Amino acid sequence: MISGKAKLAGVIGWPVGHSRSPRLHGFWLERFGIDGAYVPLAVKPEDFPDVIRALPLMGFRGANLTVPHKEMAVGLVDVVEPLAWRIGAVNTLVIRDDGSIEGRNTDAFGFLENLRRGAPGWVPASGPAVVVGAGGAARAVCVALQDAGVTEIRLVNRTEERAQALADALGTGMVVPWAERAVALAGAALLVNTTPLGMTGQPPLDLDLTALPPTAVVNDIVYAPLETDLLARARARGNVVVDGLGMLLWQAVPAFEAWFGQRPAVTEELRRYVLA
Ligand code: ATR
Repeated sequence: MISGKAKLAGVIGWPVGHSRSPRLHGFWLERFGIDGAYVPLAVKPEDFPDVIRALPLMGFRGANLTVPHKEMAVGLVDVVEPLAWRIGAVNTLVIRDDGSIEGRNTDAFGFLENLRRGAPGWVPASGPAVVVGAGGAARAVCVALQDAGVTEIRLVNRTEERAQALADALGTGMVVPWAERAVALAGAALLVNTTPLGMTGQPPLDLDLTALPPTAVVNDIVYAPLETDLLARARARGNVVVDGLGMLLWQAVPAFEAWFGQRPAVTEELRRYVLA
């Protein structure tokens, strides 16, 4: 139940109907008994600049951004947090007391927190990381790994120029041609899929795992299905696997805290609720 004083936030995307964020934040709002609401906002790209300018005028505390707005937002907000600047994308807007809009990125935090909790034995010094994909998600993953202290990141992408552009932006990273992707797994301590391959309705990621050490951790940022073909194959050969749902849940924690003033917990109950 919300009152006339309810604190407001939401998720802006186009389309937005698939987003699980309203369910996720709604769970926490109810748990804390907060007088607040988190709503889906379907906004076309051409209307996005007007809409973010309207948020403070309507009393919103902030919003999450999803496809296709994350990159455009970097040039539209009043202040870009340094991490969001490096990633080149904003996934969280925080409206400050003076009405100005701050752009943050909590995806890197979400990725790392999920990885650390899902694979407690993994440490950045464990060895090289192989990142498949070179889009926006890969960029957040690579920045997170770089900041955690991973010294060797091997970038594998179907379009090699995009992997090279990512390596250049990071100032580090070794580009491996798509045809050599199976070989890139030799000696790796971590493998992360950042492409949509393996998602329901998409073909699986075509990657032979033979060269991957059995001690390596395998993480897929896809979470529908929870166990992708990649994770099932990795699990079958004895690798520790981490699914992608936790990244979604953990990226929401700092955002919820910024808007609603309470730090929420990520629990098994929440995982089940968000998946249902
Ligand atoms: P996101 O922001 O979610 O990362 P994106 O920027 O569209 O989305 O990036 C999608 C990534 O998945 C890209 O690395 C893309 O490879 P290309 O750069 O070659 O396009 C990768 N990807 C998508 N479909 C793919 C496919 N069928 N085979 C190989 N890679 C694919």
